[in-house]
Amino acid sequence: MSNNKEVVQFSKQILEKYGSGLSSVRFICGTQTIHKDLERKLSEFHEREDTILYASCFDANAGIFEAILTPEDAIFSDELNHASIIDGVRLCKAQKQRYLHRNMEDLEEKLRSSNGRIKLIVTDGVFSMDGNVAPLDKICDLADKYNALTFVDDCHATGFFGKTGRGTEEFFNMKGRVDIINSTLGKALGGAAGGYTTGPSELIDLLKQKSRPYLFSNTLPPAVVASASKVIDLLMHSSEYPQRVQSNTERFRSKMVAAGFTISGADHAICPVMLGEARLANVFADEMLKKGIYVIGFSYPVVPKGKARIRVQISAAHTTEQIDQCVDAFIEVGRQLQVIP
Ligand SMILES: Cc1ncc(COP(=O)(O)O)c(C=O)c1O
Repeated sequence: MSNNKEVVQFSKQILEKYGSGLSSVRFICGTQTIHKDLERKLSEFHEREDTILYASCFDANAGIFEAILTPEDAIFSDELNHASIIDGVRLCKAQKQRYLHRNMEDLEEKLRSSNGRIKLIVTDGVFSMDGNVAPLDKICDLADKYNALTFVDDCHATGFFGKTGRGTEEFFNMKGRVDIINSTLGKALGGAAGGYTTGPSELIDLLKQKSRPYLFSNTLPPAVVASASKVIDLLMHSSEYPQRVQSNTERFRSKMVAAGFTISGADHAICPVMLGEARLANVFADEMLKKGIYVIGFSYPVVPKGKARIRVQISAAHTTEQIDQCVDAFIEVGRQLQVIP
């Protein structure tokens, strides 16, 4: 969406009208109509009561746990959650439990044995290195059973995952069940910068009083707010873009699997092409670039040793011809490097 004409045009208009920035945090003189409008639109998009904007989702994750939890409370966090969640959890004084990745038996065991006053289950909606989805339906069932709250970081889902791009909740057909959603404006929602928390209005009011990255960091620049705002308008009125991501993803995944590649995860636009050795992943990526396809090899320590991969990210901006061209390049390089027969 970062090159969408309407998005760019609106962002330019707002830049002309409001200037490049406000030289202030939100509560002093860093709030304009467009900030309030975007918060309202994000609440409507997620069907939540209220929303608070941050300079990034890293800040949203860093600012939430400390603000809402005390040493009497307990956090249950998936071991592969994003670095910003790990840092946010570190900053708060609640009891901390890491459960095995997407492992509901382990989560249940930890919930059962906890005496936390508030219990908060924390997970990425979609895990970026493998493109796999958190079992949100089961997590919410456990939350009901053990009287826990749920928090989802939906950076890798908002705007493009689920039928209309509402994210992981929508993918599981359970809109409204998660208590707190944090997400980014820096990926599908215009790709510029910014993050937010959306949820109950009491929570958002509390964050506005207590969340340190909100209180002590500059407000988002008007042009950035405007681009995200326009993307939300476009997503509110049509599911064309998320559906295009989904059909492009299906095309890429099915053609690659048919050609003999192993693609991690399922359903999601993050498509890690598993290659194993770090050197192979890097050589593969270099060969792809020679064919006009820009992909990057991921290896240790970003992913476990022996699980190097090329992480392909499918977009609504890709044409079917481009998807096919990419698959053809993978097949040619794959044969050349003897990854596929
Ligand atoms: C799961 C997840 N959470 C949070 C972030 C941080 O988002 P931002 O770039 O808005 O700080 C990222 C960014 O890569 C992410 O992947």
